[in-house]
Amino acid sequence: MAIFARTLRVRDYRSYDFYELDLSCGVNVLVGPNAAGKTNLIEAVQLLTAGQSFRRPTPRELVREGAEAGRIALSLEGEGRVIDLACDLAAGKRRFAVNGKRATAAGVRGILPSVLFCPDHLDMVKRSAGVRRAALDDFGCQLSAAYANLVAGYERTLEQRNSLLRDGVPGPGVLDVWDEALTRTGAALIVHRRTLLARLAGHLREVYASIAPHERADASYVSSLIDDQAALPASRDDLTLLFQDALRTRREEDIRRGTTGVGPHRDEILLTVGTRPARSFGSQGQQRSLVLAWKIAEVKVTHDILERYPILLLDDVMSELDAERRDAIVRFIEGEIQTVITTTNLGYFGEDVLGPAKVVRIGGTA
Ligand SMILES: Nc1ncnc2c1ncn2[C@@H]1O[C@H](COP(=O)(O)OP(=O)(O)O)[C@@H](O)[C@H]1O
Ligand SMILES: [Mg+2]
Repeated sequence: MAIFARTLRVRDYRSYDFYELDLSCGVNVLVGPNAAGKTNLIEAVQLLTAGQSFRRPTPRELVREGAEAGRIALSLEGEGRVIDLACDLAAGKRRFAVNGKRATAAGVRGILPSVLFCPDHLDMVKRSAGVRRAALDDFGCQLSAAYANLVAGYERTLEQRNSLLRDGVPGPGVLDVWDEALTRTGAALIVHRRTLLARLAGHLREVYASIAPHERADASYVSSLIDDQAALPASRDDLTLLFQDALRTRREEDIRRGTTGVGPHRDEILLTVGTRPARSFGSQGQQRSLVLAWKIAEVKVTHDILERYPILLLDDVMSELDAERRDAIVRFIEGEIQTVITTTNLGYFGEDVLGPAKVVRIGGTA
């Protein structure tokens, strides 16, 4: 069964005073010149499906300049029902609602999951490890509330431990308490990350091979707790012990530096082509194929876990990809995946995409 996004309505949101967009359950192409407001619409859909946006805006930034309050709403349809998701933006706050009832961001997240692919993601392979960790964690947060709680809990505990280290540790016993909390949450987060990454990697290998048949790509987790990754324990209890050991060994250094130098916030997601890290050895083409394969893998894993496809949001990426990689996306979305694509130029798409697609012009004439 499937759920689709049917209508997006925004009021006093970003560049819009009022706008209503009806979506088809197949491919939707939003075409318009730069700064027409295409990404703003993608962002609204992402906010109401993932509970947050890739631009990490404050609620005030989302309200149209000059207005006091704004609202975005998305009606979903499918499985014989209609679900109304909304977010009110006022007084520096955002308030989500599901069918008119007040909800948290977590309550909105995942009703219709979404996968976003935007130009920022294109150099995900080259950028710092934090970008890849965030990609994995943001995805995990949409799939499971437990994952989201662990990410939030770990960040909170780490911040508290770090502020203690910065401000001066009153006594070793106090740090022990924080270490206990950090290692238990951190170990659980590692378990969740590795499980999710293993699922993603399975699809990523397959999708990559379909784009580049003579190359092998892979993704693996590299923990900062241990050098020999093959020896990284699988269980939460063993990981907790290992993490405790690592913190104990580094305690003096952590105190001296005023920060926690080891743990899941220092872990890496290693992407490889052949036997080599793609970050330092991959060509730009290989790196882009990896990101593309990762995104498609996210769509597939969502389906494996939630038994429904996410809405796929492709923001201005077609112009950045060569014809071969564009074709790989097109082949993929020709299935039963609701997709919203933004572009400044319809010339990037063949009749195979545009024929069945719903094309909507945004702003001026393009
Ligand atoms: N809160 C806001 N109030 C008014 N305009 C906004 C606000 N936030 C963004 N914008 C405007 O939206 C436009 C960018 O829209 P965007 O969706 O990124 O365009 P594009 O079609 O290129 O993707 C810019 O002109 C920007 O100034
Ligand atoms: Mg844009």
